[in-house]
Amino acid sequence: MVDHHRHMHIPLKKPANTTTIMIHVDEETGCVNIKRSRPKLLFFLTFCSVLSCCLLLLPSLFSSPSSTFSLLYSYESVDETLFDSTSSLCSSVANGTICCDRSSIRSDVCVMKGDIRTNSSSFSVVLYNSGDLITGESELRQEKIKPYTRKWEPSTMATIDELTLVSKKSNGSMIENRHKCDVNHDVPAVFFSTGGFTGNVYHEFNDGLIPLYITSQKFNKKVVFVILEYHDWWIMKYGDVVSRLSDYEPIDYNGDRRTHCFSEAIVGLRIHDELAINSTLMKNNETIEDFHDVLDKAYEPRIQYLIQEEPVVEREPEKPKLVIISRNGSRAIMNQDLLAKMAERIGFRVEILWPDKTTELAKIYRSLNSSDVMIGVHGAAMTHFLFMRPGSVFIQVVPLGTSWAAETYYGGPAKKLGLRYIGYEIFPQESSLYDEYERNDVVLTDPDSVNDRGWEFTKKIYLDRQKVKLNLKRFRKHLVRSHLYIMAKRNQA
Ligand SMILES: *[C@@H]1O[C@H](CO)[C@@H](O)[C@H](O)[C@H]1NC(C)=O
Ligand SMILES: *[C@@H]1O[C@H](CO)[C@@H](O)[C@H](O)[C@H]1NC(C)=O
Ligand SMILES: *[C@@H]1O[C@H](CO)[C@@H](O)[C@H](O)[C@H]1NC(C)=O
Ligand SMILES: *[C@@H]1O[C@H](CO)[C@@H](O)[C@H](O)[C@H]1NC(C)=O
Ligand SMILES: *[C@@H]1O[C@H](CO)[C@@H](O)[C@H](O)[C@H]1NC(C)=O
Ligand SMILES: *[C@@H]1O[C@H](CO)[C@@H](O)[C@H](O)[C@H]1NC(C)=O
Ligand SMILES: *[C@@H]1O[C@H](CO)[C@@H](O)[C@H](O)[C@H]1NC(C)=O
Repeated sequence: MVDHHRHMHIPLKKPANTTTIMIHVDEETGCVNIKRSRPKLLFFLTFCSVLSCCLLLLPSLFSSPSSTFSLLYSYESVDETLFDSTSSLCSSVANGTICCDRSSIRSDVCVMKGDIRTNSSSFSVVLYNSGDLITGESELRQEKIKPYTRKWEPSTMATIDELTLVSKKSNGSMIENRHKCDVNHDVPAVFFSTGGFTGNVYHEFNDGLIPLYITSQKFNKKVVFVILEYHDWWIMKYGDVVSRLSDYEPIDYNGDRRTHCFSEAIVGLRIHDELAINSTLMKNNETIEDFHDVLDKAYEPRIQYLIQEEPVVEREPEKPKLVIISRNGSRAIMNQDLLAKMAERIGFRVEILWPDKTTELAKIYRSLNSSDVMIGVHGAAMTHFLFMRPGSVFIQVVPLGTSWAAETYYGGPAKKLGLRYIGYEIFPQESSLYDEYERNDVVLTDPDSVNDRGWEFTKKIYLDRQKVKLNLKRFRKHLVRSHLYIMAKRNQA
């Protein structure tokens, strides 16, 4: 049903020096793409390991002068404007023109206004301009764009369909030659792709839904989504969210050969940061909490339906609820049953979720939206922190060697949503690796130095083979404190 891309990504990292490095590690192929940038110059490096998969990153890898990375230049300064999409470029576009903002390192966005007509058989969108009478060249301008938000990853972008935006200026007689509109739309279009890494919940939210919200929110649902690499499963999975962002049926660009006509179109999505929205860049100062509210409204009808279908149960004064997002295999919690029992003794009602690609999101939302604490081991499923109510507690268990990723992808973004975030960094004794290595082995004592050796070590050692056996005595303190916090919050209310 779903693309089986599993990967890891290290999008935007700024180490101590001013060079910016972006790394993407594909969990499936074990390929690592690294890009360093400075104004006007972009360097790419891709290398692959024979190993197959998982996630992690290697924070200090880049500072080691003896590593492969020293092959890359080191730069003195980086133009900050490269790294955000704040620039007001294309914020006002004259009728009859195309404006492309290629200043962000994460995505390109083009805006067109005027007489816009799609031609999917040539992967183009044409802007007809009947303005001035001119002779000669009728095609004024062409822009090529891949409407996906991982611009810095050549290997991902290579899989994304490219659109050609054409501006044609024409005199009277040429107007007759414009192709006819099959469907006239009186609201703007937003073009984007659901290809790439879509299929992994982190990417679906980070690369797709949140940027879609950022880009389309200002239209207040009066917008048509035109989707490249349209997948039925994507619409099935996210239809309820999409219909909170647009009042109109999405268009399958590749599959629908009709000519669709618009007077305004945005091609490509804007993106701010990992699972985040920078409200200063939003027209009405929207935040990630507003995005959370969109999810709430999206899932409400389905949840109401599920509730009606269930037998009515007597509800005792409710205990705080704790959800464990569980994993099997690598990065599983080996003493999860004991953890659950301990949490119950502390006073929680405990629920265990095993989300996978086919789990209905409304059900996960229902479970998390009604919970006070979420616990999980670092991994893509942590994306579900987006389903927690602001003010609730998120405890991420951070295995050895994964600190940077855990904080960058989930810890930091969770705090922005207003969650009480606890990053529980395990001690070596809590790792399954403790039984496999000598006590003084650097694998246990200095994960950074292991990460420095190269991605294949990180992956093989920390990602694919590490399980967690929580020190319950140590972990208990966090649960007790969380319980107190929840009870105090309730008493206040
Ligand atoms: C939000 O964007 C503004 C304008 O680019 C920038 O100055 C600010 O640092 C950003 N805030 C965050 C939290 O990234
Ligand atoms: C924009 O341009 C199109 C075609 O060039 C024209 O039909 C339309 O009336 C113009 N709209 C405005 C608001 O000027
Ligand atoms: C319109 O443009 C076409 C092609 O560029 C040219 O052949 C024709 O003479 C032009 N007509 C007028 C009225 O300028
Ligand atoms: C769409 O593009 C194709 C290929 O360039 C072209 O042959 C066709 O005439 C165009 N369709 C219309 C309706 O203009
Ligand atoms: C957004 O925030 C700015 C600065 O705090 C404020 O001036 C502006 O009125 C706000 N806009 C809206 C629509 O709330
Ligand atoms: C989520 O929880 C809040 C607070 O309990 C509730 O008001 C809201 O209806 C819930 N959302 C859904 C979709 O059930
Ligand atoms: C993981 O294992 C549990 C217990 O054996 C099982 O119930 C669950 O379905 C498994 N989950 C996944 C995602 O494989």
